[in-house]
Amino acid sequence: MAEDLIIATGSKAEQYQSLIPQIQALIEGELDLIANLANIAAALKEQFGWFWAGFYIVKENELVVGPFQGPVACTRIRKGRGVCGASWEKAQTIIVPDVEKFPGHIACSSLSRSEIVVPVIRNNEVVGVLDADSEAYNRFDTTDQHYLEKIVELIQW
Ligand code: SME
Repeated sequence: MAEDLIIATGSKAEQYQSLIPQIQALIEGELDLIANLANIAAALKEQFGWFWAGFYIVKENELVVGPFQGPVACTRIRKGRGVCGASWEKAQTIIVPDVEKFPGHIACSSLSRSEIVVPVIRNNEVVGVLDADSEAYNRFDTTDQHYLEKIVELIQW
């Protein structure tokens, strides 16, 4: 497909509904994981303008930062640590409306105010997480959860 993303306006759901087929087209037929994660992170950042969007990949029992868009981030996160490590441990999406109220939140940047982390599960194992951060409080909700969980399902991991 052409590499230009069409940026949708409208409700959050409408924005995801426009973005998801474009993500599908971007990663279709491409088996390189890093390439696909990089394009998904870029597409999410471009559509939503979040502060940070990207992936951590489980490697040797740690989360290691993968392709992302945004400021530099913590390289490694242990299981159970921070929002990412908690999502990995619980194998569940975690929505954090105010990061200062999340015990153990790892502040890669003091500018981040809210966050969502979605685990990528393959064969009953968490293989990585999708993390999005915003400079606004309460930016993420169950609509984001619904569509981001669909997006991670599209990835051939
Ligand atoms: N805040 C995350 C760490 C990753 S950065 O936000 C990119 C956490 O608590 O797990």
